[in-house]
Amino acid sequence: RGKKAFIAGVADDQGFGWAIAKALAEAGAEISLGVWVPALNIFETSFRRGKFDDSRKLASGGLMDFAHIYPMDAVFDTPDDVPEEVKANKRYAGADGFTISECAAKVARDSGKIDILVHSLANGPEVTKPLLETSRKGYLAAMSASSYSYVSMLQRFGPLMNPGGASVSLTYIASEKVIPGYGGGMSSAKAALESDTRVLAYEAGRKHQIRVNTISAGPLGSRAAKAIGFIDDMIRYSYANAPVQKELAAQEVGNVAAFLCSPLASAVTGVTMYVDNGLNTMGLAG
Ligand code: NAI
Repeated sequence: RGKKAFIAGVADDQGFGWAIAKALAEAGAEISLGVWVPALNIFETSFRRGKFDDSRKLASGGLMDFAHIYPMDAVFDTPDDVPEEVKANKRYAGADGFTISECAAKVARDSGKIDILVHSLANGPEVTKPLLETSRKGYLAAMSASSYSYVSMLQRFGPLMNPGGASVSLTYIASEKVIPGYGGGMSSAKAALESDTRVLAYEAGRKHQIRVNTISAGPLGSRAAKAIGFIDDMIRYSYANAPVQKELAAQEVGNVAAFLCSPLASAVTGVTMYVDNGLNTMGLAG
């Protein structure tokens, strides 16, 4: 039986979410996506116009396809959470059923059970501000989009998952070591995500017999990372100082995600796994 995966946090072919989709598709999984509402239109248009065709090529010669593409906004759990100004926003006006619970209900309707759940999204409106200058609103927004969104997803998608299934998210070492420039409460959000990975591994392991892991990825010039501003410096720093001196490819993270979600990792849960060319091991610049 082919496995079914739901991936939240794909809006182009440049980020980790796409690379995870690719690795899972190569392994034969059926992929559905949850795409952030404001990014959905351009994603679907670009997809239709063939802009991603090169990146869609599979080893078999075919093109990666998506079974379903759903609008999603991971800061809302139920329709009651959506404020009037968001409903009225023209980028949201055409979309419906984009809260996490509604998205899960659509996946249940269209796919029945799933085997793999991926959270590859983050957002921190004040990410360019130092933590010391971050507002309460900005801090809580970072936690809401980047950490609680995962708790909520496991709440709603956990019951749809087959026993033996697995879930993975993406984190960053700024949770445990100081990375100047990764502000706005994003370092706090990643610390929460990693701690929650352990607790959710226990709770969802007992409740649904699924595994929960997170990948601590090295720097990648994705759209989200470019918005932070210092990604090129981070890539250079990693190249210069990591044990393995090469630029991190998104696909290297995609491949580890596929491993973590496969039976090869059937005894691995609650783990923060570094996929960073080993940079995390260094105590002093190499
Ligand atoms: P990306 O831009 O490809 O992915 C982030 C996605 O989150 C985008 O598709 C965006 O549309 C979506 N998103 C933002 N707010 C959302 C919301 N409220 N609801 C639903 N979707 C929302 O960038 P990237 O870098 O691939 O990010 C994926 C994950 O990897 C994130 O958790 C990020 O923190 C993490 N990561 C990234 C690193 C990097 O250097 N790029 C390093 C370590 C971790």
